[in-house]
Amino acid sequence: MENQVTPERRPVVLSAIQPTSIPTIGNYFGALKNWQTMSEDNDCLFAVADLHALTVHPEPAKLRQQIIEMYATLLSLGLSPEKNIIFIQSMVHAHAELAWILDCYTMFGEAQRMTQFKDKSQKHADNVNVGLFAYPVLMAADILLYQADYVPVGADQKQHLEIARDIAERFNNLRGATFKLPEPYIGKIGARVMSLQDPTQKMSKSDVNPKASVFLFDSPDLIMKKFKSAVTDSEAQVRYADGKDGINNLMSIYSCCTGLDFDAIEKEFEGKGYGDFKVRVAEAVIEEIRPVQEEYARLMKDKAFLMQTANEGAEKASRIAYRTLQKAKKKVGLIVDK
Ligand code: TYM
Repeated sequence: MENQVTPERRPVVLSAIQPTSIPTIGNYFGALKNWQTMSEDNDCLFAVADLHALTVHPEPAKLRQQIIEMYATLLSLGLSPEKNIIFIQSMVHAHAELAWILDCYTMFGEAQRMTQFKDKSQKHADNVNVGLFAYPVLMAADILLYQADYVPVGADQKQHLEIARDIAERFNNLRGATFKLPEPYIGKIGARVMSLQDPTQKMSKSDVNPKASVFLFDSPDLIMKKFKSAVTDSEAQVRYADGKDGINNLMSIYSCCTGLDFDAIEKEFEGKGYGDFKVRVAEAVIEEIRPVQEEYARLMKDKAFLMQTANEGAEKASRIAYRTLQKAKKKVGLIVDK
């Protein structure tokens, strides 16, 4: 295929995040931190997935604000808009257009099997709309438009990556080589940060329990409070083991911040109680996200810069996306404009 990785072509990395609320440290350690790392050696595109957010019917004025906030968050991670393409999904028209074409190459049964669709349909039983159902197809369009090699995501998105590959493969088989098959990039540690109050559940932006999730822009005091009240166990020994979900989660978070492996962490806290450990984890998280918080506060004061950068990002992304879209349109028999 013409899009194989060659020495002249750096791998293409694409990922996106929904602007449904301030990101949690789950989003940060599971995805955003890897975006940062990967942005050095790859051709990266990072998007605010605002079209995906429409599935839950957000209040329009609030959504507009959250899109800008998420865009500023991505820039605050230190992702340079000169070296990476950072854009807002809905500003690149090709996404919705390719999604429709891909809808016609996605089987009802395979979309119906998506765990996230099943979970969300249960949670929002009063609003199981077609957008929610077709959500992974739009995500496939996001990825395939840029011929991405790698997609850095948390573990919960793995199934969506698999369906993106299946759709691409089906299309390629029926219509000829068009899309590169993407690989998920899922970090070893931090791919599934758990709730601080119920460590058997994923930490989520939409958890109703305010102590369950730590948000990227929580104050240091609040972060400390949340970690101090994290659910653990009665063993009082910092070690990674089955059945110690709360401690395992805190150890993973601490490992993400410090780079220490579990053995080293166990040694560091030998003979110390959970109280000391929780404080250290909180301090490490506070230190880790401090630069992001400072940069975010600075950027949010300059909306004109944010909008200009978003427009430039959309223009750059559109140029790449348009090429793939034209190719796909031609392959399916649509008339392609000049
Ligand atoms: P979203 O907005 O729910 O989450 C953004 C990223 O954060 C990861 N994540 C987690 N990682 C570890 N632990 C957790 N508790 C945790 N919670 C969330 C998610 O896996 C994700 O990587 N559908 C996507 C957005 C999207 C997308 C794309 C991603 C739209 N188009 C194209 C990749 C490529 C989503 O809802 O992510």
